[in-house]
Amino acid sequence: MPVDLSGPLLSEFERTKKQFEKAVSAGDMETARRSALRCASLLRELARHVPYNGELYLRKARKWEEVAGQIERGEYGRKAVVSAEGRKTRPEEDEDDQFREYVLGLMAKSTITWDDIGGLSNVKMLMMETVVISALRKPAAIQPWKGILLFGPPGTGKTLLASAAAGSLNAAFFNVKASSVLSKYFGESSKIISALYEVAREKAPSIVFLDEIDALTTRRSNDTSEATRRMLSTLLTELEGFHEGESDKLVLTLAATNTPWDLDEAVLSRFPKRIYVPLPDKEATKSIIRIHTKGLDISRLDLDAIAEESVRRLYSGRDIRNLCQEAVWNMIREENRDLHKLASLPLEELRKRSLRTRPLEMRDFEEAFRKIKSPLTKKDIERYEKWAEEFGG
Ligand SMILES: Nc1ncnc2c1ncn2[C@@H]1O[C@H](COP(=O)(O)OP(=O)(O)OP(=O)(O)O)[C@@H](O)[C@H]1O
Ligand SMILES: [Mg+2]
Repeated sequence: MPVDLSGPLLSEFERTKKQFEKAVSAGDMETARRSALRCASLLRELARHVPYNGELYLRKARKWEEVAGQIERGEYGRKAVVSAEGRKTRPEEDEDDQFREYVLGLMAKSTITWDDIGGLSNVKMLMMETVVISALRKPAAIQPWKGILLFGPPGTGKTLLASAAAGSLNAAFFNVKASSVLSKYFGESSKIISALYEVAREKAPSIVFLDEIDALTTRRSNDTSEATRRMLSTLLTELEGFHEGESDKLVLTLAATNTPWDLDEAVLSRFPKRIYVPLPDKEATKSIIRIHTKGLDISRLDLDAIAEESVRRLYSGRDIRNLCQEAVWNMIREENRDLHKLASLPLEELRKRSLRTRPLEMRDFEEAFRKIKSPLTKKDIERYEKWAEEFGG
């Protein structure tokens, strides 16, 4: 793994940019020019270290070099006057960069695979099919879903499924929480959505994951803000997704919600494919336990008994993961009673020792069960099932 230097470089860049601004306002143009060049070289350095932001940083680097050149020629500042008169303005470009930068910050490569997901075989199959159809060459008449809605109780693997779709395609994964875009860029969140799809097309194949899509709904309250409405309408347009000459670029939108009944018609109609991600049944629970105890000896466990109890308690995949972690900790603590005493040892000493383990026992789980409570009731589940029956599919 290469060392990630982007943090220190970015803060160095911020510092230098401040120096530049200070110098400009003090009229010290020679310092300003040198700071601008330093900014440019830091950005070029960043471009080398942060591959997926490379283009953006290079673009910015060139801008700084241009600024340095303008200062040298005594032109710097005159442009600003021009922009104040309303021609091609630099501030606007900077603003676009800011949105792109935010979007690029949401981008990741996922290493999750379909095998990391226990149960949900139908859901997995459906998503695999969609992903594959989207990627294959096909006659124009065959149009795969551009968007899939995943709905179900919290912790059932919706985010995991989206990550696996991205991981399996080695696609760029954009994880977008509607609520946080709205709170961070309130009046301008629709610009984020445009930037999002622009970058997603550039980086295709891409998976755009819109989490908490219900935050954009207009049904729940009548006073939905103008900003929310604009963001929603931009999103709906992007979902129509007609971009001339770019139809071969794979950009798949997956949306998730815990409250599908809050979604309004406009949103639902753009997601004709709606997949219910339910609580795990007994068999699914067993495979989720196996996934989250990988590398440990579980031969002494009565997996059926554990799975039955966890189904009875309405555990989600997340609850089951937490249950396994608790159980593992119970085992670790029992086997390594003096663990805390080693805290004073230097790291090299610690590296020489290894953690004692033993096979997991039922008692580890019995204790763990007491700590994990599902927030769900039977009634909640019925509500999901009813919605799935009526609107799912
Ligand atoms: N089917 C599953 N197989 C394996 N692990 C799972 C499964 N479902 C959930 N988990 C575990 O629980 C964690 C949380 O799941 P995830 O974030 O996908 O839930 P979610 O449906 O997106 O929940 P929320 O609605 O709260 O966002 C996962 O990171 C994983 O560790
Ligand atoms: Mg999630």
